[in-house]
Amino acid sequence: NWTTGNVIEEQVATIREQVGDKRAICGLSGGVDSAVAAALVARAIGDQLTCVYVDHGLMRKGETEQVEKDFVAATGVKLVVVDAGERFLTALKGVSDPEEKRKIIGREFIRVFEQAQADIIADEGPAVEFLVQGTLYPDVVESGGGTGTANIKSHHNVGGLPEDLEFKLIEPLRKLFKDEVRMVGQELGLPEEIVQRQPFPGPGLGIRIVGEVTKERLDLLRDADAIAREELTAAGLDRDIWQCPVVLLADVRSVGVQGDGRTYGHPIVLRPVSSEDAMTADWSRLPYDVLARISTRITNEVRDVNRVVLDVTSKPPGTIEWE
Ligand code: XMP
Repeated sequence: NWTTGNVIEEQVATIREQVGDKRAICGLSGGVDSAVAAALVARAIGDQLTCVYVDHGLMRKGETEQVEKDFVAATGVKLVVVDAGERFLTALKGVSDPEEKRKIIGREFIRVFEQAQADIIADEGPAVEFLVQGTLYPDVVESGGGTGTANIKSHHNVGGLPEDLEFKLIEPLRKLFKDEVRMVGQELGLPEEIVQRQPFPGPGLGIRIVGEVTKERLDLLRDADAIAREELTAAGLDRDIWQCPVVLLADVRSVGVQGDGRTYGHPIVLRPVSSEDAMTADWSRLPYDVLARISTRITNEVRDVNRVVLDVTSKPPGTIEWE
């Protein structure tokens, strides 16, 4: 019979046997899947697992700390955090095109991750033979059910390492659906904020700033997003909405009147949607009083924002993200 306890017990035994006295690494994204996969493997092999978290500086407020502190506290996992914010900002300088942003963020991410990986491999200690991935059952079906090894190409020369590093994969969530993964995560004692997290795109806030990504704009968007999330959570709406991108129209200005006089600031867009699988979505009919609170707080508390607008477009025709 299916219980989270049985799933954990079975996976722990399998992983222990598979890994033996070798080592494994796992990339953490802050999302549910990689967090639960890592927690499960940590339960099985303890400090033979090293997790890597690349902080690209495009996360929302508090998310990096959640991984660094709460996740580590809950799992006892060995974690390497790479603070790469400056590097990503430099790479994104002058870039406004959405696909170009995605390409740059993806490329830099792989480079930083591989360097961290190489450093771990170069450590004293048993061979690193395994890579943990948070593949779910729907991903397995979509990709035709294949399993095996990950071939990770080295994009740059790392002292004395082979050009291609081959890892055996550990995918402890391969038979599970998303809601089951959340239940397993809960059973493993992961923080609620991680287990119940809504989807968030890999390129992060980088694709929620329409226009060039700068440090100032990221800070501003982080503040606005934190307010929206706080109010949605306080109103008990987290389970009703699929996700709510908060978008900064960095190249748009409009006239406002705030405090002592006229302002010429940026609009923030709220994009709450309901969806089953993100392929299609409907805009969420949020209560007006919640929208009013978010709008008042953002325009009061976030410098340079003088307007909050609501996106009432379904998908199709609009995608969920603005970029
Ligand atoms: P769209 O905007 O295409 O989004 O309607 C559908 C879902 O995918 C997420 N999304 C991304 N996730 N990398 C990701 O990992 C991306 O580049 C990306 N773009 C969109 C989006 O948040 C939504 O859940």
